Amino acid sequence: MLKMSNIAKIYLTDTVKTQALQPFNLDIKAGEFVAVVGPSGSGKTTFLNITGLLEDYSEGSYFLNDQDVTDLSDRQKSRLRNEQIGFIFQSFNLIPELNLFDNVEMPLRYRKFSAKERKNRVVDALTKVGLVNRQAHYPQQLSGGQQQRVAIARALAGSPSFLLADEPTGNLDSSMADGIMSLLKDINTAGTSILMVTHDLQQAAKADRIVEIRDGVLTENESINQVVA
Ligand SMILES: Nc1ncnc2c1ncn2[C@@H]1O[C@H](COP(=O)(O)OP(=O)(O)O)[C@@H](O)[C@H]1O
Ligand SMILES: [Mg+2]
Repeated sequence: MLKMSNIAKIYLTDTVKTQALQPFNLDIKAGEFVAVVGPSGSGKTTFLNITGLLEDYSEGSYFLNDQDVTDLSDRQKSRLRNEQIGFIFQSFNLIPELNLFDNVEMPLRYRKFSAKERKNRVVDALTKVGLVNRQAHYPQQLSGGQQQRVAIARALAGSPSFLLADEPTGNLDSSMADGIMSLLKDINTAGTSILMVTHDLQQAAKADRIVEIRDGVLTENESINQVVA
């Protein structure tokens, strides 16, 4: 589903050159749940943003569902992103002025769905995360765990082929974090691939595979993978 070869990332400013990611190869198959771990500043968000077509890479090749994304225009990338990728962030990124229904519907407005299709998708997605009876509520009326569920519903409503999550449980207490992890596991079991950055090794252990990034060096962590298995 996702094949990266010799991908690397360098940030250049006037005075500094940061090699955020050293060249790496990575294959992710449809249906996999992959956790990404590593210390702060090691390159995890950069890696996730490249994967999600939010940032360009400096070298290498990247195929997403057999499509070479290297030479796509920004417009083509946005479209691919909107249709194939769902994003979940640590800080939820919900729009406070919009109720839950409108928050989940927002990205669907950039697609060619009828109003009826959009409504069906929003209701389905809010049902999956257990919040369909709250659709008229506003984000600030919900707990952190519930807000993250809304963000997950928003990511799911477009039927993406995979979900990218950057520390999705980072702002939650451990019982809410466990709830979000079991929701993500259910979504994965239902067929959506997931790539999740986390600081929490216990949450990472619930994934199928763990990729580790240290100082911009990405490795499949065999020792962690064996411990987990
Ligand atoms: N836009 C940017 N410009 C310059 N350097 C950046 C930028 N974004 C990240 N970096 C640098 O790249 C490295 C990796 O950052 P990041 O991917 O955010 O790490 P992590 O998510 O693991 O904490 C860090 O050294 C960071 O300072
Ligand atoms: Mg980060």
